[in-house]
Amino acid sequence: MIITIDGPAAAGKGTLAGKLADKYNLAYFDTGMVYRAVGLEMLLGGFELGNVDAAVRFARNLTFPRMMELSRNPVFRSLEGSKAASAVAAVPEVRTALLQMQQDFSKNPVFADGSPAKGAIYDGRDTGTVVCPRADIKFFVTASPEIRAERRHKEYLQKGQAVDYAEVLEQTIARDQKDFARESSQPAKDAVIFDTSGLSIDEVFAKACEIIENRKITLEK
Ligand code: C5P
Repeated sequence: MIITIDGPAAAGKGTLAGKLADKYNLAYFDTGMVYRAVGLEMLLGGFELGNVDAAVRFARNLTFPRMMELSRNPVFRSLEGSKAASAVAAVPEVRTALLQMQQDFSKNPVFADGSPAKGAIYDGRDTGTVVCPRADIKFFVTASPEIRAERRHKEYLQKGQAVDYAEVLEQTIARDQKDFARESSQPAKDAVIFDTSGLSIDEVFAKACEIIENRKITLEK
């Protein structure tokens, strides 16, 4: 079974994906990592974010082990790392170069320890539209920019990164504008849309499970 969860930053995709992956024993691919990895390569190499040739080169050479190595760098999930990821993700050749790696995972999904899984759950922006257009179940999770910025701000503070709420909100809005300018980031036509603004993670999880259970019955028929 392949499940995709798309939507804007800090909408709760990762938390939902993690809980669903545990419950249904699925491998998990956080596709934002491929863009974060290329963005971080640019920062580490001292390249301007607008240097398309360098970004495309890093994207073409990216491997899964290198991505995992880069993910351990504290900048990977920082505000600076998010900005770099969003900048390189806007380059169509970078997206093309990173597509195969994301699609291959659905053919041979593996858990974090390398053992094989029977299916996968993806989270990102275009996983239901471009990466896995034939996924069994597609979710699109969203929430207001203020609520998402509040959640992200809390995460940064918990990690000891001192940033202003106003700066996080400004970047959330700027990142939405860049990310959602792409047609591929709009919800897939067959996606179930959740607005998590007024919902707890348990409520979102319960709704998602109900939809999956119903779909599983249809798939097994
Ligand atoms: O999800 P996350 O915040 O880690 O994604 C970082 C950036 O990577 C996003 O702002 C977006 O620009 C890009 N991205 C993308 N397509 C995806 C996943 C992430 O363009 N499927």
